[in-house]
Amino acid sequence: MKPYRLHILICNDSDCSEKGSQQLYENLKQLVKEKDLKETVKVSKSTCLDDCEIGPNLLVYPQGIIYNKVDAQDLEKILVAHLSGKKASTLEHHKMLE
Ligand code: FES
Repeated sequence: MKPYRLHILICNDSDCSEKGSQQLYENLKQLVKEKDLKETVKVSKSTCLDDCEIGPNLLVYPQGIIYNKVDAQDLEKILVAHLSGKKASTLEHHKMLE
């Protein structure tokens, strides 16, 4: 089995969950399936990413970029950008541990 190119974690802890992260998780899983990327992109739920006030939050590896206030329209931008080795720079984000 080849390694995934991207691992995207969506915070599913309390604050992000109240802001709709479960729906984002389902939307992203569906998007990955529609684009036939299931062998390329792994999507998981995570515990708190310590940005609770500005959620829902999503973390992309291997780049280690956290996106804040993510909505459904952002998911494709994030996916496309990171698959091309970039980041979705128009969206609110920061590097992990910054
Ligand atoms: S609950 Fe999502 S970052 Fe804390």
